[in-house]
Amino acid sequence: MRIVRERACARKLDLIADLPDGDLLLIGDERALKQVLLNLLSNAIKFSHEGGRVEIRAWDARDGAVIIEVKDYGIGMSPDEAVRALQSFGQASSVTPRSYGGTGLGLPIAKGLIDAHRGTLSIDSSPGRGTAVRIMLARRPVRADPLAPLLAPESSEPDLLPAAESYERVG
Ligand SMILES: Nc1ncnc2c1ncn2[C@@H]1O[C@H](COP(=O)(O)OP(=O)(O)O)[C@@H](O)[C@H]1O
Ligand SMILES: [Mg+2]
Repeated sequence: MRIVRERACARKLDLIADLPDGDLLLIGDERALKQVLLNLLSNAIKFSHEGGRVEIRAWDARDGAVIIEVKDYGIGMSPDEAVRALQSFGQASSVTPRSYGGTGLGLPIAKGLIDAHRGTLSIDSSPGRGTAVRIMLARRPVRADPLAPLLAPESSEPDLLPAAESYERVG
């Protein structure tokens, strides 16, 4: 958050965070999720107009899922551009690399990491109005194969819990 705060400040953007207290970043692999949020916040800041607003919020959804949304009111994308933005090296328009820099890898990497957590990443955007990127993740930690063993070898938990019946005693 500190990194993006400085960048937002430099562009006179308001960075608004509405996050529930506690352990949101612990839903999955912490490093991967931080990477994803950093990517999304960097984009939101980069494609905002000066003096604009970037919002990040998170809330509980149904079925124990958590939604995290990063929203801006910047240049936005058409539906076609949003599809292209998710492809490797895909930049929504050929103008963006020239005016904004970047490699076009941030979003595909973010989507790859979220997929690996069995989550979803979706883009809601319209040109000139802004962009909202939503991530949905299960709150329960899930095994993010094949990435989890690489990214978080220390987080492995025992696979097998003793079946409840084995504790039961008759009489
Ligand atoms: N918040 C946003 N508003 C408008 N366009 C965006 C936004 N986020 C991503 N894009 C578009 O999607 C493209 C791909 O994003 P990304 O993969 O992060 O690459 P990069 O930031 O390196 O250009 C960007 O070049 C831009 O065209
Ligand atoms: Mg980017």
